[in-house]
Amino acid sequence: MKRRDFITAAGLLGTVIVLPFQKIFGIGISAGDDTKKWTDLIDYARWCPSPHNVQPWKMKLISKKEAHLYYDPTRVPFTVDRNTSFTIAGMGMFIECLNIAARQSGNKIVAEHEPEEHLEYNSAGLKLFAKLYLVETDEKAAIDPELIKQRRTSRLHYDGRILSAEIVAVLRSVTTGYGHNFIYSSDKELIEYVTELNARSIVTEADNDDARNEMSHWIRTTDTDAEEKKDGLWYRCLDTSGRMLHNFFFKHQRFTGKWKRKMAEKMLTKSMRGTANIAWITGRFENRNHWVNAGIMLQHLWLEMTKYNVYMHPLGTIVTTQPAYKEFCEKINFNETENTLWLLVRLGYSNEPPRSFRLETKDILMA
Ligand SMILES: Cc1cc2nc3c(=O)[nH]c(=O)nc-3n(C[C@H](O)[C@H](O)[C@H](O)COP(=O)(O)O)c2cc1C
Repeated sequence: MKRRDFITAAGLLGTVIVLPFQKIFGIGISAGDDTKKWTDLIDYARWCPSPHNVQPWKMKLISKKEAHLYYDPTRVPFTVDRNTSFTIAGMGMFIECLNIAARQSGNKIVAEHEPEEHLEYNSAGLKLFAKLYLVETDEKAAIDPELIKQRRTSRLHYDGRILSAEIVAVLRSVTTGYGHNFIYSSDKELIEYVTELNARSIVTEADNDDARNEMSHWIRTTDTDAEEKKDGLWYRCLDTSGRMLHNFFFKHQRFTGKWKRKMAEKMLTKSMRGTANIAWITGRFENRNHWVNAGIMLQHLWLEMTKYNVYMHPLGTIVTTQPAYKEFCEKINFNETENTLWLLVRLGYSNEPPRSFRLETKDILMA
């Protein structure tokens, strides 16, 4: 089938028609069946997490067995993600979601990556990230794809319960399976230190005009904005008020005074009450292969937590801002030369957080 016909079929699917494929395309193997294989997978993968919920992915369907994964340069937050490593990890997570979902039909995804080391955020148009092939496999499904839809970030307060040794061991084994280290702590003093450092680093980072301006594109301070754009960080998911979030990003001069800054830090720290577990991940994190591998690992780790109803909240600002990173590394005596400490999270049990919005499958498909 020609690519144009194939894409037309994809477009039809995107308009939520429920007519039988045979009626549209005639009897026998239909274009709809070809397209549906990929759109079924994207229906899962669109729930993949991405830093700041930017959802940079786009898919061009080529045939029943081949699709090309692109990224949208306008969705790459290049100031806060300086070498685009975390956005690349997110792209790796998206491919892994497709892969996990593909196992349901006895397939796996084989990715042929583009050679570029970093994402080209200056590019005028969409950029190819990898060619994806759907290949039959006997390998057993390692994880239930429904967990992809169930998984959420919880920035709510946690309930103080410590993870069982069994769960910690499972999480550690997922991480080491990909060559990374999972270091866990339930030390009260360290947790208090981390939540305060996190609050301090967020307030300090917001003083950086470039970082704040970039982030403000991904801040959703009203329900209408969040629902319409279907991306970004919705105030309800950040467990704050829309007004507070608006002021913090768009009237930031109000937060230059010592008292207001302390108040903001206190609110952020308080929102993390009940945190009884933290963990950090170390491993190779210097090039595109490492970042993709880290993303694949993170996807599995997060789904494994979801299986046990454990929530997680990455504390990225500590890792991505130099002074906070240095301070934390000194605190835990981390000085490995080969490995990078690239993720720090709090984890545990909380109420179910609001579900953050996602682009629809039709928004991800390229014409
Ligand atoms: C690599 C990566 C890094 C992230 N870092 C942070 C972070 O530093 N702080 C935070 O609150 N959320 C972080 N998140 C969570 C995303 O913001 C979240 O996945 C996204 O908003 C979608 O929401 P959901 O996970 O509830 O579906 C990160 C996610 C990924 C994949």
